[in-house]
Amino acid sequence: MKLIQRNRRLRSNASIRSLVQENTISVNDFIVPLFITEGSNVREEISSMPNYFRMSLDLIEKEVLELWSLGLKSVLLFVKVADDLKDNKGTEALNPNGLMQRAIKTIKTTVPEMLVMTDVALDPYSSYGHDGIVKDGKIINDETVAVLKKMALSHAQAGADFVAPSDMMDGRILAIREILEENSFTDVGIMSYSAKYASSFYGPFRDALDSKPGFGDKKTYQMNYANSKEAITEVLQDIEEGADIVMVKPGLPYLDIVSNISKFVEVPIAVYQVSGEYAMIKSAVKNNWLEEIPCVMESIMCFKRAGASLIATYFAKDIALYLKESKV
Ligand code: PBG
Repeated sequence: MKLIQRNRRLRSNASIRSLVQENTISVNDFIVPLFITEGSNVREEISSMPNYFRMSLDLIEKEVLELWSLGLKSVLLFVKVADDLKDNKGTEALNPNGLMQRAIKTIKTTVPEMLVMTDVALDPYSSYGHDGIVKDGKIINDETVAVLKKMALSHAQAGADFVAPSDMMDGRILAIREILEENSFTDVGIMSYSAKYASSFYGPFRDALDSKPGFGDKKTYQMNYANSKEAITEVLQDIEEGADIVMVKPGLPYLDIVSNISKFVEVPIAVYQVSGEYAMIKSAVKNNWLEEIPCVMESIMCFKRAGASLIATYFAKDIALYLKESKV
């Protein structure tokens, strides 16, 4: 054969492959989700998330020191709230001495340079397990936003670097940006869960925080997974309202959404490889059906290839360890 183009030339050895490789993975790309619980010396494995733990603050201190030593520089906090502190108004979410506020302070004291990002939504605090206030069986938007903005302010006051609203109420980004400005928290960032879909892949996360919706589902606020264009509307609106980073969630099944919005926006795009994605890989690995690190690294590279520059994943620590050991 006399071929002019032989595409295999650029694949023929490791050196040329690395020279022409379009995307890379670095420890700088990751956000580490942390589940925090009350108590001391508590480290509870989440049953549907093998090798992932809820930890009390004393152990979180050790954890963040270890993450920092591995080069991981940002954490995303979620708290498990006791049932007797839950209500329909998110009262505990605003407690300056609540678990989230204490967690922020603890981490910023232990590793001041660690970027602390916080989940802003009412579900862990809600007696109904919904992200907003419930009235007559409905999740009411504006009253919820009024609480969410105070929640974001309270996180900023405790020392959070970024707030991450995951609730999907309308207008929450502007409300949060305004309250932060009014209170001189001009450097506090907003990472908006802009295109968050009503997904069944969040199941294990709801086990972790005991935050399953008590009635119905989240389809009146999270997006319909049949839709793509709506994601553009959501991200553009959030950027206009003051978001610094926009997020797509879940991850792998939604790569088309990441790719699509990356054509429209200039701000950094984050993707969340959610609990169900973690559980799927872990369970296949447990059965010796898949090899863990190669599958994880492939999934992360796919996020980068699609256009994400930040990745929230429960595999972050494993990846950092792997990158360190293999010095890649
Ligand atoms: C809460 C929240 C959820 C996740 C992040 N923030 C669950 C939900 O919306 O029901 C899911 C994360 C995961 O599954 O890993 N608003």
